[in-house]
Amino acid sequence: MATFDLLVLPGDGIGVEVTSAAQRVLDTVGRRFKHTFRSASAAVGGVSIDNPGAPPRAETTALARKADAVLFGAVGGPKWDDAPVRPEAAILGLRKALGLFANIRPVKIFPGMEEASPVKNDRVNGVDLIIIRELTGGLYYGKPKRRWTTKAGRQGVDAMRYSEREVDRIMRTAFELARTRSRRVTSVDKANVLEVSRMWREVANDVAKDYPDVTLEHQLVDSCAMLLVTRPASFDVLVMGNMFGDILSDEAAVITGSLGMLPSASLAGLPRSGGGRRRAVRGLYEPIHGTAPDIAGQSKANPLGAILSAAFMLQYSFGLAEEAHVVNAAVEGALAEGLRTADLAPAGARAVSTEQMTDAVAAGVEAA
Ligand code: IPM
Ligand code: MN
Repeated sequence: MATFDLLVLPGDGIGVEVTSAAQRVLDTVGRRFKHTFRSASAAVGGVSIDNPGAPPRAETTALARKADAVLFGAVGGPKWDDAPVRPEAAILGLRKALGLFANIRPVKIFPGMEEASPVKNDRVNGVDLIIIRELTGGLYYGKPKRRWTTKAGRQGVDAMRYSEREVDRIMRTAFELARTRSRRVTSVDKANVLEVSRMWREVANDVAKDYPDVTLEHQLVDSCAMLLVTRPASFDVLVMGNMFGDILSDEAAVITGSLGMLPSASLAGLPRSGGGRRRAVRGLYEPIHGTAPDIAGQSKANPLGAILSAAFMLQYSFGLAEEAHVVNAAVEGALAEGLRTADLAPAGARAVSTEQMTDAVAAGVEAA
């Protein structure tokens, strides 16, 4: 029996519905396993730009620092495209301020879900890979980062900059995780063109010497994008920089049938293997999908990405491996019963609502 403090940051669009679904499942876990999940929440993203009474970013960051973990929804939307502060700054600022350099995005095809994939079924059978995306460096944060106007017109620059230390720690994250799986790491770069990638590859090779039991291969990002479609089942752990990880994780995710299913964990340290109750690393947990303004507020959103993110939180931040397993199994159970939200339902088939899907998962947890 234990008490955990979490900060919930629903954000915009369907972020609100899916985080509330995940909280319902966490509450069910709490009742079933006699834990208390105390949650505070705060406005972030577009909603806080619209609301002059919303707490400033520094205050939200301070709340996040105090919490055992953060459950994040999604931020952004066309409404704020020309806002002076972009909603995305909320999540980018939190990642940096909390030092969440390791973003873990598992891509797995659940049994029976092959039909929902846009890729031929024989290719997606058995897909079970993890993308480890460096999250606090690279093109997203590198300086210079600015726009200016010259006589010849507008110009802009962002810099893809990495230090050896940043590459070293994300590589170690990948190798440690690979040790809990099939001991294969694919490092993704653009070393045929970019200096930063040549350095990335050198450091990867250096780190590999400390992990003689793990096989390291290198892939160029363009050909990796192709291989993710043609032979996704051949990958295990993929590690890459911030920008490449953003792009390839959406690509890999949709192969499983929907972006709506996939969770992510952003961690400030190496995830430890094995169970145990010790407090693990600080983390922020969010589905990888966006705010989907077109379906927001209509109870059409798939809550599974957020629910699976909560399962990740149980495992990594709270050290509750059994409880995490129960949530994952409940999600598999709901899918096995044939429940499909609109994003997953085949054309013409009936889709369940966000609440109905959440009810089914909660019932599965209750029954475990
Ligand atoms: C993601 C999102 C974010 C990113 C946006 C919302 C800033 O696309 O988590 O993948 O680019 O990192
Ligand atoms: Mn993205």
